[in-house]
Amino acid sequence: MHFQILEDTANALVEDGKGILAADESSGTMKNRFGSIGVESTEENRRNYRECLFSTEGVDEFISGVILYDETIRQDSSGGIPLIDILTHKGIIPGVKVDAGLKDLSGTKSESVTEGIDGLGDRLAEYRDFGAKFTKWRAVLKIGSNTPSRYAINTNAHALARFASLSQEAGLVPIVEPEVIMDGSHDIEACFDATEATQREVYYQLAFHSVHLEGTLLKPNMVLSGKSAVTRADAEYVAERTITCFKRTIPSAVPGVVFLSGGQSDEEATVNLNAINQRAKSSCAPWKLSFSFGRGLQAAPLKAWRGMSDRNDKLQQAFRHRARLTSAATRGMYEPSMENDNPS
Ligand code: 13P
Repeated sequence: MHFQILEDTANALVEDGKGILAADESSGTMKNRFGSIGVESTEENRRNYRECLFSTEGVDEFISGVILYDETIRQDSSGGIPLIDILTHKGIIPGVKVDAGLKDLSGTKSESVTEGIDGLGDRLAEYRDFGAKFTKWRAVLKIGSNTPSRYAINTNAHALARFASLSQEAGLVPIVEPEVIMDGSHDIEACFDATEATQREVYYQLAFHSVHLEGTLLKPNMVLSGKSAVTRADAEYVAERTITCFKRTIPSAVPGVVFLSGGQSDEEATVNLNAINQRAKSSCAPWKLSFSFGRGLQAAPLKAWRGMSDRNDKLQQAFRHRARLTSAATRGMYEPSMENDNPS
């Protein structure tokens, strides 16, 4: 097995001050994102948007890697250059989402399982030939009166471990993403319990499948109050609960944790990431704590762009600004006043 290559890639993805842009939205999700700015989700519009995002000058100071969607890894820029090459020329590491999305989990009323293991070995070989160095698989667990169930946690953790093992066999670093989603009115302790139970099972299954932890990254949710909770825990408490939960569940062999933003506003996700990193220093947490944000990095650029090619520079400015602030949060050096320093 190519352990050294896996470890080098995993470590490079969480290099100091850098994190990942998740740009792997499926075409269905892009329809919603573009819908919010009044743009039609055609293949050409998706290409133009992502080409512009990836070409942003200076973001390689803050962005270590980009997660692509299957369509994007096969796409050329308007000038005929593979989009993946725009990234590699900047020293940004390309990765790809390899799961096939959520399906209803039989035997449950409302839970899901992520599919995509069938034929995964062949797809991984193809992605590696395109130049991908890492992969991502997302499982979703919901908090409700009786959920997440043990059954849903176990089934999803098993699939994550199968994915991780196949990915490493193909020489690709797996980003293991068990997301406890923030929808609901639950308090932060319910999120703590669900996240703890989920991550325990994930690491049990990764060990059972002989996954080389030093060549993996975890992409978890932060431990948060539900989105519609009456009172929401503040950033200091989010940081305390998140680090306490992770110390119980994530082995120190794992080089890094790259959070999803998960429907928090970009500013909220940045404030929380900053507090988590400040807390990590004082409590000697063993892993790098960085980001793999989708909405947390793209909400502002999308809004600035509005589908107009004469606003490409606004898109890039907004992306560079968000990337700089999120990077500062990985060092615990973000200040809310920095939100206003966007040079226009
Ligand atoms: P968000 O940061 O928008 O949650 O997206 C991250 C991601 O890749 C979800 O799979």
